[in-house]
Amino acid sequence: MHVFENPVFCALDTTSVDQAVNWTRALKGHVGGVKIGLEFFYAHGRSGYQAIAREGVPIFLDLKLHDIPNTVAGGLRALMLLDPVPAIVNVHCSGGSAMMRAAADAVDGRAKLIGVTILTSLSDADIVEAGFTADKDTADHARALAHLAQTAGLDGVVCSPHDVAGIKHATSSQFLTIVPGIRPAGTDAGDQKRIATPGSAIQAGADILVIGRAITGADDPAAAAHAITRDVETARG
Ligand code: C5P
Repeated sequence: MHVFENPVFCALDTTSVDQAVNWTRALKGHVGGVKIGLEFFYAHGRSGYQAIAREGVPIFLDLKLHDIPNTVAGGLRALMLLDPVPAIVNVHCSGGSAMMRAAADAVDGRAKLIGVTILTSLSDADIVEAGFTADKDTADHARALAHLAQTAGLDGVVCSPHDVAGIKHATSSQFLTIVPGIRPAGTDAGDQKRIATPGSAIQAGADILVIGRAITGADDPAAAAHAITRDVETARG
């Protein structure tokens, strides 16, 4: 049983509303949803969000909230007033369990609430510098934070393709893993380091794949999304 029949969410990494809407129109029916983030939302806010939402695709609003419990809960309550409500929103797990519980209360089941564990841009040395204990590496800390997120009532976490299996092992089968860093076989890795193909990420247990440039940078984004979906379907068997 899959939460999203099509697990592919396309990252609309642009500050242009026209570009984002054009991609969304082209991809409708070929992806499970689209992801918009800080840059787009800070630039265009509610009206930009609604321009995309009008196309009728589920939206992952990737704003990664991180503040005291009361402020995060207030921010999420404001986001829950968006019409339609985003399919997925997220917070930083390192905000702590009280913050995550407050976030879960605020969302109240209206969207999937996802935790960011350890940013994949951080190395083992970076997290020690930031005050994490050196006896665990980034993967161990990500697993521990995923477990804490589940206990606090979150629906899942974002993680690298290489951490999916470990996190799935440490959490319940319903706990979602959202996985960026996906590259179809033969495409350019770009700035991503820990990559996997769509099929191998699904086989490792990924529930949602966040894919940007492999779709938006293709000559025919709909065809690229369609090919990725076929790889996913083969992996699901
Ligand atoms: O173009 P590409 O497929 O690399 O885009 C991946 C998307 O996922 C981007 O929007 C990127 O910011 C996001 N992301 C990521 N790694 C994370 C979290 C989010 O690449 N750990």
